[in-house]
Amino acid sequence: MNSFEACREIKKILDQGIVPTENDINVIYETATGHKRYDYAHMVSDAEFEKIKELAERRASGEPLQYISGRWPFLDFEVRVDRRALIPRPETEILAETCIDLMYGRDHPVITDLCSGSGVLAISLKRAFPSALVTAVELSQDAAGLLRENSDELCGDIAIVNADVFLYQSEMPDGSQDLIVCNPPYITERDYANNYAELKEEPRMAFLGGDDGLSFYRHIIPAYRDKLSAGGIMAFEIGNEQADSIVSLFEQNGFSGVAVKKDYSSLDRIAYARVN
Ligand SMILES: C[S@@+](CC[C@H](N)C(=O)[O-])C[C@H]1O[C@@H](n2cnc3c(N)ncnc32)[C@H](O)[C@@H]1O
Repeated sequence: MNSFEACREIKKILDQGIVPTENDINVIYETATGHKRYDYAHMVSDAEFEKIKELAERRASGEPLQYISGRWPFLDFEVRVDRRALIPRPETEILAETCIDLMYGRDHPVITDLCSGSGVLAISLKRAFPSALVTAVELSQDAAGLLRENSDELCGDIAIVNADVFLYQSEMPDGSQDLIVCNPPYITERDYANNYAELKEEPRMAFLGGDDGLSFYRHIIPAYRDKLSAGGIMAFEIGNEQADSIVSLFEQNGFSGVAVKKDYSSLDRIAYARVN
């Protein structure tokens, strides 16, 4: 069987469950065979075809393409992704880039990524600043396992702490951090229940931010403020309707230089501020 015939079979299977895109077909073909779809010289073996069918059936039943691929790009690297952790989103790349800009020129910065998941933020920062002391905090043991695999492969030398950010502040010395970055769960219970059917394949605890989606910000901003060094920065990914609340939380807790940045859809998505 050649790639043309194999891709026609993929589409037939996908049509039974979803409206497939060309990207679905390409990723399934490439993941199963290790070859590009347009590498016509490659003949698909029986074993590869069995794999193709298995992956296409998983996708047809609604599994995200990222979990099927098992790897997904983030900035200049690819992370492993699977059901143990949230799939990294393109918006989070904006947070990573913002933090890299904000840390530029600092000598040996001390950085903590709270709610680290697959580790994309911690890894981006460690790769940008090899001399940085980076800690990644994550409550889910499953996600922390994936984080370790990603950091071992992509940068190494990140301290991974399996802990609850609602308690972890007591472990952190005052004035010790140049940057605390966090993409916390920020979806409201009601929104999660009524919308976002597409999120149900990812770990629930990656999304739920309490009744109004703000519970992590409400804890982290005051509880970790004094952990920052003079000039230290706290930076978050935020829900697109949360900017006013988070700006107020920063201001009420004595931060300055509060800034909000938008995502690729022009929605408020990043908020950061510094301590003097
Ligand atoms: C929105 S995801 C962000 C993951 C990753 N930082 C990213 O940007 O792709 C939130 C993460 O917070 C973790 N989490 C949830 N509650 C937590 C808690 N109380 N303490 C630490 N981590 C928590 C979840 O397991 C999940 O990995």
